Amino acid sequence: MCGIDGYAGKRKAAAILAQGLIDLAYRGYDSAGIATIEGPRIEIFKREGNNSPEELYKRVSGLTLAGTVGIGHNRWATHGAPSVRNAHPHLSQGKRVAVVHNGIIDNFKALRAELEHEENASFRSDTDSEVLAYLIERELNFGALSLEDAVHTALAHVEGAYAIGVICTDYPDQIVAARNSSDLIIGVGEGELFLTSDEAALPTEANLKAAMKDGDIVTLFQNGQFHIRGHSEEDKKRRLEKVCIMPGQSRLGNHAHFMLKEILEQPEALRNALRGRIDLAHETVRLGCFTPEVTRQFRTCDRVVIIGCGTSYYSGLAGKLYIERFARVPVDVALASEYHYSDPIFTGREVVLSISQSGTTADTLNAMRLAQKHGVLCLGITNRVGSTLAREDDGGVYLHAGPEKAVASTKAFTSQVAVLALIAMKIAQIHGQRIDHALLRGLDALPSQLELVLRHQEQIKALAARYKKAARFVCFGRGYAMPLALEGALKLTEIPYFDAHGYAGGELKHGPLALIERGVPAIAIVPKGPHQEKMISNVREVVARKGEVIALVTEGDQALNGIATEVIELPEAPEEFISILAVPVFQLLSYYLGLERECNVDRPRNLAKSVTVE
Ligand code: AGP
Ligand code: GLU
Repeated sequence: MCGIDGYAGKRKAAAILAQGLIDLAYRGYDSAGIATIEGPRIEIFKREGNNSPEELYKRVSGLTLAGTVGIGHNRWATHGAPSVRNAHPHLSQGKRVAVVHNGIIDNFKALRAELEHEENASFRSDTDSEVLAYLIERELNFGALSLEDAVHTALAHVEGAYAIGVICTDYPDQIVAARNSSDLIIGVGEGELFLTSDEAALPTEANLKAAMKDGDIVTLFQNGQFHIRGHSEEDKKRRLEKVCIMPGQSRLGNHAHFMLKEILEQPEALRNALRGRIDLAHETVRLGCFTPEVTRQFRTCDRVVIIGCGTSYYSGLAGKLYIERFARVPVDVALASEYHYSDPIFTGREVVLSISQSGTTADTLNAMRLAQKHGVLCLGITNRVGSTLAREDDGGVYLHAGPEKAVASTKAFTSQVAVLALIAMKIAQIHGQRIDHALLRGLDALPSQLELVLRHQEQIKALAARYKKAARFVCFGRGYAMPLALEGALKLTEIPYFDAHGYAGGELKHGPLALIERGVPAIAIVPKGPHQEKMISNVREVVARKGEVIALVTEGDQALNGIATEVIELPEAPEEFISILAVPVFQLLSYYLGLERECNVDRPRNLAKSVTVE
């Protein structure tokens, strides 16, 4: 959701900033803008709507802008309509200061009123952010000794979450950046600096990076030097790290869309998630975060609580089944947005697992912070190294799935479920339970088996052509397939905009059967195993009401031939891993249905990749 970038160096800033906004666009935006210092003035360009970063790029590439210091922003409106007027950067009253802002200023109304009353300020937008530019300029007028000082004093009046970038005509060789609960990263190149709210959008010229911490105010100079307020040069050097996103990893390559690229990357992503973590010879699992203290807490805990949103919540449902089955420890799974406000009961004997692909989801972070406030150990499961979740958790497990840019979460889901299986096995070990060798081997074999599932691409594409006009989709499964039915329905909702519902098979008779009528496609997950017979009965119930069943079955199983309209075969595997093996079917179907229905598959309407506000 939203994005900030900045450039200070010797090259012309405008096109670099616009390209940075294109690279940030996958997170979601409704408008975009850049500002550069051009001699004595600040020049601003803004666009609204789809492709605004691309349009900005075209516009500024055709101009002769000489400025080599500037800031840019992709906005995701929270206060004021998505429009050019409200797009960032925002100028101060005297137009000396321009600001970009991610987040929300909680006390903006009071600040606006104060400025209107005391400074005769007149605002040009409806945003909460604009007030920041006015406050900073006021401090300069009051005689602040530097832009950094002005930002520092201005922020003392501000309540809320923010990442900001500031430029000023009085200090044409600088950008000042500040953060509080919203990510900002400095990229260091040869004699030039980049500012970004998302590491995946750093350009290849940045070899080193330094993540800003809450409370930091950093000045980036045009000569390639930067300074963290109140910190020594030594502190600064300690913060510098190598940029670990491989060039090209976050670009599209030969793929038509990021969503397809990321679906197809799943075998590799899963290999990376499992690498070095399964020891078949000793029938054990190795996870670095299980320090002696973490192990002790798991030994004495009597409950695990898993929190997450959307797809991360559904992987949590799979995690519950694993932990309860393997380790026999009770698990609650909660939607982070509900958990935070549900006055949860803390007994001092629970452990929390918070799951977030991006590591920046506000609901999940707030739920985790609440548990931490009550002294609960919180482990994070995230894909984003150095994200807020990774920094604030008490230990955690990285997915190593590589950047996920399409708004729909795909490869993160498979990796999350696999990591949760590993964690469940580790907890089982701690509780003295033996891990079934067949299960460990089954987990280890999943990356290669996923490759086989992905070979069904053409069959699934044909299904998309057949069902593109369906009235709705119903997805159902039992046991380990139940979370998958929910995740599958979410994919069908957010990409091709279907009215899609996921249910436990046993629930059909309790309501959802009413949705079945002639031609309604129902996707049934019916692998061999303890639930198969009951699932076949559910399939018959659907067929009897003239629904068309697409059945996901174990390879070679003919039980549904002649009953289901379409059968998709999945490799033979322990039933525990059905969510991992069958999920690409839902992902590919959603992708191809999205194309059939001319939807923007990478950036579905109204959604953002990273939901940094509650
Ligand atoms: C699902 O495809 C996503 N659009 C969304 O539900 C996502 O899973 C959710 O917002 C949580 O994101 P996170 O994992 O980055 O916290
Ligand atoms: N609250 C600000 C606005 O509505 C910033 C939103 C964002 O983070 O993009 O303009």
